[in-house]
Order: sequence, then structure tokens, then C-alpha cells
Amino acid sequence: MSRILVTGAAGYIGSHTCVELLNSGHEVIGIDSLANSSAVAIDRVIELSAPMTFEQVDVLDAAAVDRVFREQQPDAVLHFAGLKAVGESVEVPLLYHRVNVLGTVNLLRSMTQHGCHDIIFSSSCTVYGNPDTLPITEATPIRPISPYGRSKAFVEKILTDTVAAHPDLRTMALRYFNPVGAHASGRLGEDPLGVPNNLMPYVMQTAVGQRDEVRVFGGDYATPDGTCIRDYIHVVDLARAHVAALDRLADLQTVPALNVGTGVGRSVLEIINAASVAVGSEIPHRIVERRPGDAAEVIADPALATEMLGWEATHTLEDI
Ligand code: UFG
Repeated sequence: MSRILVTGAAGYIGSHTCVELLNSGHEVIGIDSLANSSAVAIDRVIELSAPMTFEQVDVLDAAAVDRVFREQQPDAVLHFAGLKAVGESVEVPLLYHRVNVLGTVNLLRSMTQHGCHDIIFSSSCTVYGNPDTLPITEATPIRPISPYGRSKAFVEKILTDTVAAHPDLRTMALRYFNPVGAHASGRLGEDPLGVPNNLMPYVMQTAVGQRDEVRVFGGDYATPDGTCIRDYIHVVDLARAHVAALDRLADLQTVPALNVGTGVGRSVLEIINAASVAVGSEIPHRIVERRPGDAAEVIADPALATEMLGWEATHTLEDI
């Protein structure tokens, strides 16, 4: 059992991971700015698993972050806190670099000063941009095409540089594919502020009548049904990958980044149809123009994560 500092603990992936950490017997200290999340998620985590500590702290507040390290003495950090809207990152790149890059630098500085050696970083398949070949392995070139993607790629480089200077540090970047789904209790899930950018929350808000219809971005891609294909991974599988990574980090100093996906691709229409079956009625949708910047197909090769972590995704599309 270790003391784990979880940044972005009230967020979608952070909260599901807190549950899995607590269920595995770890102690959890959560921090979150609550800029795009609610402290209710922390209450729900506690209700579903075990007590945890929580403080409203922004990773940009270096003094507050340092105080948390001094007071809590965590053994490891799971770093989820960050901004993640691709379109927004094009409009306000400096905000994305400040939060995602500087937030990580603040954590790494406090870690090196307080003898905390282990960090797992939330990276993204977006670091690969539009890959030439599929499925995507960790050897696929890193060619991000948005400020958001570049902020994730920069942080991966910063982790490598920091390990070179501090050989007792152990870091791992997990490159998430498309996280979807919710805790089986229905007490945790994804609840973005405003109009959702991502497919699944949009589909779900349409299912409950909050939105009129799902706009399917493009029906003329070179895919079997003409809509884009992604590797959708259940958020609880993703959360469990972090618990496995923590357990293995001590033995895995030479693996800086791993793909976390399922290896199976689903089209936008397959997702809408599966969701319609799950909710018991047809979810209204209409094919519209392509969304600029979308790749036709993004699928992970998750073999290295399976080999290194002894982990694989087990939830089906129906579970999702
Ligand atoms: N889509 C629609 N209609 C919508 C929303 C999305 O048809 O209203 C389509 C998109 O065109 C795409 C697929 O659904 O083909 C998935 O889109 P998302 O926006 O959910 O996810 P992306 O694959 O675009 O991935 C993006 C970033 C990732 C990030 C992920 C989750 O590229 O880096 O969102 O935030 F991790």
C-alpha cells in the first residue's frame, strides 16, 4: 500500500482511478482546481470505495503544490490535471501550455525536492497526430497537430529530461485512446461543462433529450460505413491500467510511454447504434460535414502495455 497523490482527482478519469486505487488498498490524496469538475465526484468516490483526502489545489499554484508534498509526503503521483479540448487549444495555446506544461513542471520540482520518485502522466494518442500506419504502436512517429497534442508531447520530453538528471525518478506516460463509459454504479461518469466536444457525452445528452440530435462529422471517409473509427476504451479499464502501472513502475524504468487502448476500432455509427440499444430507443443523428483535423481511423496496438503491465481492457462495447 502506498500514498498516492492524484491531481485532477475530481475529473472524469481521475475520479474513476481514485476508486480503483482505494479498492486496491492504496491511500489517496486528491487535489483538483475544480475548474472543470465538481467536489461531488470526491463524495461519490468515498461512497463507492473508502475515505480519501481532498484539497482544492491548482497545479499552477507551485507554493500550494509544494505544501501538499511537505504535509502529505506522497510515495507516487498520478497526474491527470490538465486541459483537453483540441479546438480550444488552437484558440488559446498559451493557456494550454501554461496549464499542461507548467503544471507538470511544478509537480516534478516538488517531487525532486521531497523525495517522491514515481509519476504516471496522462498522455494521449493525440501525440501521434494523423498516423501513416495502423494500428499505432509506441514506435509510431510523434507528430501532434494541435497545441493540446504538442503540450502532451512536450511533457513527455520533460519527463525524459528530468529522469536523465534525476536517475532515481521513475516516470511513465500512458497514451490514452478514447476513454468512454462510466462506473457500473451510475454514481460517477463524465459531465462536461457546456456543449460537449467529444462524441460519447454528446450522444448521452441527446439520449436524455438535452440535445436534439447528434451531428455525425463526415459520412464519406474510407471506412466500412463512411464514418470515423476510434479505439474507445472503458474508463474503468483505463483506471485499472494506472493501478497496474503503479505496481510495475519499479521494474519498468526503461518504458517511458505506453498505449492504453483496446486494439478494436468502432465507427461513430456503431457507437450511436450501441448507445441506442442500451437506452432502448433510437438516438437521433444526422450526417454533416467533416470536422477539420479528424483522422479517418485511430486504433491502438496495446500489446506493449499488456506485456509490461500484465493489463488488458476487459469491458465490451455493450458494457460501455
Ligand atoms: N464526433 C461526431 N460528432 C460529435 C463529436 C464527435 O461525429 O458531436 C466524431 C468525431 O468526428 C470523431 C469521433 O466522433 O470521429 C470521436 O471524436 P471525439 O471528439 O470524441 O474524440 P477524438 O477522437 O477527436 O479525440 C479527441 C482528442 C484526444 C482526446 C480525446 C478525448 O483528439 O486527444 O478527444 O478528449 F484524448
